Amino acid sequence: MKASAPAKIILFGEHAVVYKRHAVVTAINLRCYAEAKKSDEIRIYSPLGVTGLDFKVHPYVSYAIKRFSEVKPIDGVKIRIESDIPIASGLGSSSAVTVAVLKALDGEFDAGLSKDEIFELARKVELDVQGIGSGTDPFVATFGGTWLIPDRKPIKIGNVKLLVINTGESSITADMVRKVAELRGRYPKIVDGIFDTIDVIALESVEPLEKGDIKTLSELFFLNQCMLKAIGVSSKRIDELVDRLAELGVSAKITGAGGGGCVIGIGDDKSIERAKSVFGGILVEAGAEGVRFENESKV
Ligand code: PMV
Repeated sequence: MKASAPAKIILFGEHAVVYKRHAVVTAINLRCYAEAKKSDEIRIYSPLGVTGLDFKVHPYVSYAIKRFSEVKPIDGVKIRIESDIPIASGLGSSSAVTVAVLKALDGEFDAGLSKDEIFELARKVELDVQGIGSGTDPFVATFGGTWLIPDRKPIKIGNVKLLVINTGESSITADMVRKVAELRGRYPKIVDGIFDTIDVIALESVEPLEKGDIKTLSELFFLNQCMLKAIGVSSKRIDELVDRLAELGVSAKITGAGGGGCVIGIGDDKSIERAKSVFGGILVEAGAEGVRFENESKV
């Protein structure tokens, strides 16, 4: 049985969301595909290699198999993974693979899991591997769409095209979160004030997102990026990229932890196309469908 789950981006509110402020997160039309086939042994085939149950090479897939077999014991399975989602770039590839594997197992072994049950298992896998996590990534990979968090209020997004550009600089989410925590330790009132502003930006983005109001969203991207720069999670390369995109009429901000990783840009169709021809990147649509079975094989 084959299944797929989407990548995600944070539109507004990263970092502030760690301190209980609002954020807006959306599933995008890049997907991870998983195929599960009954077997007498466990084998995992992916771009990372071919292994058995291996918690080092394939931690998310291995824990997904382990957690699934607690619900429905299995003798063996062959899992094949193929993904459109760049790894370790803040686009939620780990949760997408976890959720896709759980759905493929669900179909192959007739477990009849609901989306809520798949999410609960994926949430456990996130904690098994990372020890910590807000649960946002597995939630969006399972249910798709666009959400105001932590409320989990669905947002029906208008026609908004986004350009995702990978800066090529790697960064580790936990390091960036720690850096922000240190700054907050030294300047609690200032940093909390910035988080409050980001909270307002996230809340004010809901209506323009629903209307597809690109002009307002561009201004909110700009304001959110200024706040992220203020708390030290931008970088020279991000700043230069954001400035050059602005010259082309595209408003851009960090998505995710920052310090590198991906930038998202918004603008009218012409500006976005021009920016894509200059900087490359991937044109994505927000509000993609959550986990689903796949009829046509991608794997
Ligand atoms: O870079 P990502 O996709 O892992 O996102 C990190 C988002 C933070 O707000 C910085 C951390 C978090 O757990 O919400």
